[in-house]
Formats: sequence, structure tokens, C-alpha cells
Amino acid sequence: MTLSRIKENIDAIYDQDPAARSRLEVVLCYPGFHAITVHQLSHSLWTAGLYTLARFIAHLSRVTTGIEIHPGATLGRRVFIDHGMGVVIGETAVIGDDVVIYQGVTLGAGAAARMGSATRGMKRHPTLGNGVIVGSGAEIQGDITVGDNVRIASGSILLKDVPDNSIVVGVPGRVIYRDGQKVKDEVPDIEAEAIKSLKERIHKLEKQLLSVSACIQSLQPSTPMSSVNEEEDEPTSPTSTDPVDVFLHGAGI
Ligand SMILES: CC(C)(COP(=O)(O)OP(=O)(O)OC[C@H]1O[C@@H](n2cnc3c(N)ncnc32)[C@H](O)[C@@H]1OP(=O)(O)O)[C@@H](O)C(=O)NCCC(=O)NCCS
Repeated sequence: MTLSRIKENIDAIYDQDPAARSRLEVVLCYPGFHAITVHQLSHSLWTAGLYTLARFIAHLSRVTTGIEIHPGATLGRRVFIDHGMGVVIGETAVIGDDVVIYQGVTLGAGAAARMGSATRGMKRHPTLGNGVIVGSGAEIQGDITVGDNVRIASGSILLKDVPDNSIVVGVPGRVIYRDGQKVKDEVPDIEAEAIKSLKERIHKLEKQLLSVSACIQSLQPSTPMSSVNEEEDEPTSPTSTDPVDVFLHGAGI
């Protein structure tokens, strides 16, 4: 842990956060700065084999900052954890340079977490490239690789590798921009597809019901017409006000 690294971290926060009015404010009031500084110490102890002492220091840091960084995690330079409360960074996570992480983010072990001690010593946590931004509450789980300059929207859940220069949103995370180009339309919206197929099935059943009631009516001419909706099928349209159509055409997405 060198003074130049500490100064570099202070500068990175001051340069990126418009809420910071002075470097002194960063030193006194930024839990992310405190957690990263303590991590530099605990990581050195961890790599020197002083595991319990390293974990104890990391634990004290967690108590005071609300940010849990396992001393085994490898952090690059100028990592900025903004706000920070609820951030969890697992033992084998690797974080590149100039990464920004907001509150509530987990870099977790994914499925390996339930395999217990069998995975001890194995790489279980994600690797983030340089320049990654992780929005608040995002979950990145398992030994996956998030490429350079990826932006992860708040609330996303990532379980698979993400290519460089992408924006990922949603649960599960989907790449909606790559190299500045929108790619959302190439990715199927599974929920919308399922609803669309159910809607088509309902239309088919309504048609069958109509022909059955027409049959019954022809056998019993005195019976009044069925009250089944006889509207013609119409393809979903972006201007339709049917709530299902509104959803299928991207409401709230
Ligand atoms: C994801 C993010 C990094 C992308 O930033 P950006 O490159 O400036 O791009 P935008 O904000 O314009 O978002 C790009 C697209 O992602 C969508 N998007 C952004 N956040 C989203 C979210 N949480 N869920 C779903 N979609 C999201 C936007 O609607 C936009 O879609 P569009 O192009 O179809 O309109 C940015 O939205 C971000 O930083 N989010 C997290 C911020 C955060 O956690 N702040 C906490 C401060 S307290």
C-alpha cells in the first residue's frame, strides 16, 4: 500500500463524483475510499499468508463501511465504490482498473456457493475488465468474465460472460448495446414470446368455440346465438390499447 496509490484513489473519486466538493471530503466521508484503502492492507496480509488477521481487518472494515471485500479479492487501480452500502466482493473476484461499483452490488460465487468447501481454492467469483460500471443492486454471479468498458444497469443479474464495450440490462442480463450499436432486437424477449404464443392459442380456441356453437345452433335453430366474442383476429399492433399488446410492444421496457 503506497501513498501514491492512496492519492490516486482520492483523485479518482474526486474527478468522478460531482457530489465531492474537496479531496478532504473524500478522505473523511467516502466509505468506498475507506474500504479500498483497508483492502490494500488486508490483501497484503492475505497474500503473506496471514489469513485470519487479514479477514479480521476486512471484517472491521465491513462493520464501519457496510462494504464487504474479501481480502483475497484482487482489485485494480482507481476502483471507485460509490455509496457502497451492501456491496459484497467475493474471495476470488478480480476487478480491473477504473471500475465504478454502486451500492448493493454482489460479485458472488453463484452456483458454486452451494457446493460448500468442495470449491475451496477454486476460482468462483467474477472477473471484471477495465472501465466497467456496475449499477446499484446488480448481481454478477459465478466465475464469469465481464469485458472491458461494459456498463451493467442497476438491478441486472449476470450469469454469463459479457463481451467488451457492451451495455447489459435486465434479469437475466441481456446485451442491449455493443460497440455503441443497439442489439436489443436480436435478443428474444422470452416473457413477451410466451405471452404472444398464449394469446394466439386463446384466439385459436375462440375460433373453435365459435364453430362448435355454430354447429349446435344449426341443430337447434330456436337457440339464441352464443355470447362468445366474435371479433376477427387482429395482429398485435403498436397502436393497440389492449394491455397485452401494449406489453408486447415494449411498455415499461
Ligand atoms: C446502465 C448504465 C451504466 C448505462 O448508461 P449509459 O451508457 O449512459 O446509457 P443510458 O443510461 O442511456 O441507458 C442505455 C439503455 O439502457 C437502459 N437502462 C438503463 N438502466 C436500466 C435498467 N436499470 N434496467 C433496464 N434498462 C436500463 C436505458 O433505458 C437505455 O435504453 P434505450 O437506449 O433503449 O433508451 C447507466 O444507466 C447506469 O449507470 N446505471 C446505473 C446507475 C446507478 O446505479 N446509479 C446509482 C447512483 S445512486
